[in-house]
Amino acid sequence: MLWTVFLLLNGLLILLLFSTRKRKKNEPPLDKGFLPWLGHAVEFGKDAARFLARMKDKHGDIFTVRVAGYYVTVLLDPHSFDAVLNDTVSLDFTRNRNQLLKRVFSLQLPSIKPRAEREWMEQHFQGLSFSKLSSSMNNHLQSLLLSDQKGCDPSEWRQSGLFSLCYSLLFRAGYLTLYERQDNVSAVYKEFRKFDDLLTKLARCSLKRGESKAANLSREHLWELLSPEKLCGGSELSSWQQSYHDFLQEEGVDVEMQKRALLLQLWTTQCNAGPAGFWFLGFLITHPEAMEAVQSEIRGLTLQDTSHQHSPINLLEAHNTPVFDSVLTETLRLTAAVMINREVVQDKILHMANEQVYHLRQGDRVCLFPFLSPQMDPEIHQEPEIFKYDRFLNEDMTVKDEFYKDKKRLKYYTMPWGAGRNICVGKEFAVQAIKQFVFLLLTHLDLELCDPEAKLPTVNPSRYGFGMLQPEGDLLVRYKLKRKQLKI
Ligand code: HEM
Repeated sequence: MLWTVFLLLNGLLILLLFSTRKRKKNEPPLDKGFLPWLGHAVEFGKDAARFLARMKDKHGDIFTVRVAGYYVTVLLDPHSFDAVLNDTVSLDFTRNRNQLLKRVFSLQLPSIKPRAEREWMEQHFQGLSFSKLSSSMNNHLQSLLLSDQKGCDPSEWRQSGLFSLCYSLLFRAGYLTLYERQDNVSAVYKEFRKFDDLLTKLARCSLKRGESKAANLSREHLWELLSPEKLCGGSELSSWQQSYHDFLQEEGVDVEMQKRALLLQLWTTQCNAGPAGFWFLGFLITHPEAMEAVQSEIRGLTLQDTSHQHSPINLLEAHNTPVFDSVLTETLRLTAAVMINREVVQDKILHMANEQVYHLRQGDRVCLFPFLSPQMDPEIHQEPEIFKYDRFLNEDMTVKDEFYKDKKRLKYYTMPWGAGRNICVGKEFAVQAIKQFVFLLLTHLDLELCDPEAKLPTVNPSRYGFGMLQPEGDLLVRYKLKRKQLKI
């Protein structure tokens, strides 16, 4: 009893301490919200984009909000992002990341040095490995697409949700590329989708009782499905997996954590491409002028290649594809919503590009949310909520990369891949894979909306901050193999 009273009093004292924080001179505007300790946590978790847009209207490009006991300074001026991204002394990203790894993946990797991990990743997703991965991904995409149609009458339409179609194909091809295992690919995909659906709640500790059990079961099932014994039945590991295993071993990670880390890798490498493929095709299929521009670029590629030196899929690599590239950049501008978080480990003076100076307190957090600015900022991109397939194209078909805010040219005008030390390692691979995927579907399938008037579904607002957004519901399409396909 005494112990309970003691804990309660302590809790109250902490609440009081937190709620008595006042804005000091030179600190950003402070908005604590009405609820003690929780502050704005509920609104933030429900729809971070809407909440942060409201705060931006109220306070401007920089402000501090209280969220579940933390004070988070949100910086929304892309001209000033480098002041955060380049500071590795006062700002730290590892503690925040480790906390998330523990919550979401039940994973602890304290011995791993971030620089060593990054080097390992670069070795495997860039440089020489890139073309090997890319060609393997391409082969898997093709054979999955064709094998999924086996046994179907080629003249009959099949119906599916576009999100399921894209996620399933890109996930399975990506998994086969890295893990090189056919036999459990469908089981891994099915279980992964269950886990992915609960992931944002896991990260925010907002699972309901039933969901908590489901999340734990799903995580354990995935650990089992991915474990080296299950994957290989004693035969050789894939080269990527062997290398990851060796890396973890060298870094002193124990066997249990090695097993769990494979799920983190699966999520990092497979959670974004499927949704990106969906939005890309979704925008095309609901915007006929964009579809026509891409189709026309594809026809042009085959005509250019009069010597028939390249297989059609390699045409994508051999020739410039400015329309494809602009559609992808525009798609990601509208649907990639990463949050870049840092912890202030010592008091910091933040110099903004407009020469204002702010004091950040040790123990607080700093967050960049590029989705709001630059990506959806009306000063940078006119009518930012509208999909314009040629937004990133100049009249002479070169890449448009000049965008301005406050009359100054921007370094960061869209940031789907993050930036700084954590920028996506798989960027080139992902771009290539998504282009291959869209090319493949458009050249192999007749694909159309079930309801010609259908619109793209809205975004699931709980996913802001977790990379690629996902739709609420799906978009029904029908498809069948084209009679005459390009020989690939
Ligand atoms: C459209 C597809 C993709 C998008 C939008 C995307 C975006 C991102 C972003 C924003 C980050 C940084 C996350 C953070 O700061 O917390 C990241 C990290 C990463 N991405 Fe991607 N990604 C995509 C696809 C891929 C693919 C296909 C792979 C590999 C096959 C990959 C591998 C990685 C890895 C390994 C990291 C971790 C980097 C690190 O911790 O230093 N990504 N990605």
